Amino acid sequence: MNASKALPLFSRTISRRSFYLFSAATIAGAAAVTTAAAFDNKKQYNYNNRNNNNNSNGWGKFGTSIAAAAPIVHIAAINKDRTIDDYQRIYNKIAEKIREDDEYDGYIGYGPVLVRLGWHSSGTYNKENNSGGSYGGTYRFKLENSDPSNNGLQNAAQFLDPIYKEFNWISHGDLYTLGAVCAIQEAQGPKIKWRPGRVDLPESATPENGRLPDAVNGADYVRKFYARLRMNDREAVALTGAHCLGRTHLKNSGFDGPWGAASSSFTNEFFINLLNEQWKLQKNAAGNKQYDSPKGYMMLETDYALIQDPIYLKIVKEYANNEASFFKDFASSFQKLLENGIDYPKGAPEYIFKTLDDQDM
Ligand code: HEM
Repeated sequence: MNASKALPLFSRTISRRSFYLFSAATIAGAAAVTTAAAFDNKKQYNYNNRNNNNNSNGWGKFGTSIAAAAPIVHIAAINKDRTIDDYQRIYNKIAEKIREDDEYDGYIGYGPVLVRLGWHSSGTYNKENNSGGSYGGTYRFKLENSDPSNNGLQNAAQFLDPIYKEFNWISHGDLYTLGAVCAIQEAQGPKIKWRPGRVDLPESATPENGRLPDAVNGADYVRKFYARLRMNDREAVALTGAHCLGRTHLKNSGFDGPWGAASSSFTNEFFINLLNEQWKLQKNAAGNKQYDSPKGYMMLETDYALIQDPIYLKIVKEYANNEASFFKDFASSFQKLLENGIDYPKGAPEYIFKTLDDQDM
């Protein structure tokens, strides 16, 4: 069946309004079924669109051809039997394991790779049809986790495995995003508001490869990429500040080195280094171009684009001078990134977790 013919049927059968009423009135188990049942209608729709649109850039033909159609609907399934204490317990488990397994990646620890998993599981979102994003936890499927852009993230997924086994009532999307929030807060980053309710979707909901960003690009690409995620210039710059954490690895991405010295602390160092280091564009051992500094730091071309574009540059300067402003914008942008495409019923709970330090643990 032609996708554009299938869609009106879907939107007639399950209206956005009836979704809200039903899921708000049910507890999570039942709500999850509602969402899954609704998804059966969309499965056909997704398949049709995927098969008809085999481009891989994630917003070109794919986005345009379905723009006229009704968007995919992802309703948060709120389990009223679970409270913040249940999720704080999972937070604490992740935080304790980050502390314990501290030898990972030359003693950087698992924090940065957990942040990257949360971001990549959300960064497939396409605002044109509301597909992809964190909701369905589809990173767990081979099609998504074998996307070359996800090289290295298997370490984060393996880290979370025993936690998923212990708390198997949580959805994968909730766990991946909670892991990222925990890693940022435990690295002394800002507090990030987090909401549960993502529902594991079937494999057919997995977005095609190629939706994650390519680092060999300039400001125009960066702006267009983040627009697909509903992010404006300020949000784009703030989010890139997460490159204060961790490093690039030749074996994963073909890039080499950290962005700064304090790669397991969440700070505004990325912006300070971007402005103050002496950058030189050169080829690394894999033959890929990156900016290198005498101190051994690196910048991707998409990072460097933030000081080449005058609008971005102004924001970079602000964040380099004012860490509080960066933290505030990062916290709201990161929450938005993790929640893209999800409809939360009125009154859905929003949690702010305590760090282990807050709890004197
Ligand atoms: C244009 C946008 C972006 C591009 C092109 C990009 C590209 C990359 C690349 C190539 C790596 C190295 C991966 C490896 O070799 O292991 C990396 C690492 C990382 N990225 Fe990004 N990134 C972007 C945006 C973001 C955003 C929005 C976040 C989070 C908010 C983020 C968080 C991270 C973190 C924490 C790491 C370190 C991972 C580790 O140490 O294992 N990135 N990124």
